[in-house]
Amino acid sequence: MLAISAAPVIAVVNQKGGVGKTTTAINLGAALAEVGHPTLLIDLDPQANSTSGLGLDPARARLSVYHLLTGEATIEQVAQPTGVAGLTLVPSHIDLAGAEIELAGEQERESLLRKALAGTPDGIQIVIIDCPPSLGLLTLNALVAATSMLIPTQCEYFALEGLRHLMYTHQLVRSRLNPRLAIAGILMTQFDARTTLAWDVLQSVRRSHPHHVLDTLIPRNVRLSEAPSHGKSVIEYDPTCRGAAAYRALAKELLER
Ligand SMILES: Nc1ncnc2c1ncn2[C@@H]1O[C@H](COP(=O)(O)OP(=O)(O)O)[C@@H](O)[C@H]1O
Ligand SMILES: [Mg+2]
Repeated sequence: MLAISAAPVIAVVNQKGGVGKTTTAINLGAALAEVGHPTLLIDLDPQANSTSGLGLDPARARLSVYHLLTGEATIEQVAQPTGVAGLTLVPSHIDLAGAEIELAGEQERESLLRKALAGTPDGIQIVIIDCPPSLGLLTLNALVAATSMLIPTQCEYFALEGLRHLMYTHQLVRSRLNPRLAIAGILMTQFDARTTLAWDVLQSVRRSHPHHVLDTLIPRNVRLSEAPSHGKSVIEYDPTCRGAAAYRALAKELLER
């Protein structure tokens, strides 16, 4: 058996793009760090939005998550501090785009990240993985390395269909590759309380997945979309806005769960 890092590993996953994975990974990470839980954020998306959103230039990172996957570097060599005390980032790099093809021939190609995480530094209490918008080899690596899946879901008509597919993937990974993989929760994002659609979707997702929908709702909040262009989490950018409050509430709910 591989050594397993003691810290919980939360994969932020949804095969759909634009649902709030990166926003959640950055701001949950910042909120956890703020309440005294040193957190490691791994940017596993070749688009590197978590990296640039935290103010690091993905083109300039000499070492990235790519080198972690190939075993060329350890977490300690790759990780970089961010503007948030207690939040450390393993940056992504555009080169990661070719990794799915390159790594396809490797032995135990779905366990590369899990192996690398065995070297998680002792002080880290929580690991968050920001996944790409697909269920390819990179996301599979995240699911094999993770202890739980956090599933941001937009309040839209097709939400249930996407969730059904993710739950099927969860079962598949549990039965074949990672029996300890739990569901951290389904997180409803960009929630607009003024629309009937948002409440209807929330109700039907709760009915279909009664144990998994988190109480915390992430509101649609323009501060959340502005923060990354300043290279900051919303906790630094506007600590009192509704988006910051929502991500603090999410951190609290997940810590208590
Ligand atoms: N709660 C929110 N309120 C307003 N804008 C949001 C919110 N969550 C995400 N966004 C914006 O929506 C877009 C997609 O979000 P992102 O987190 O990048 O999704 P993903 O990583 O799933 O592709 C981004 O421009 C982001 O700033
Ligand atoms: Mg993203």
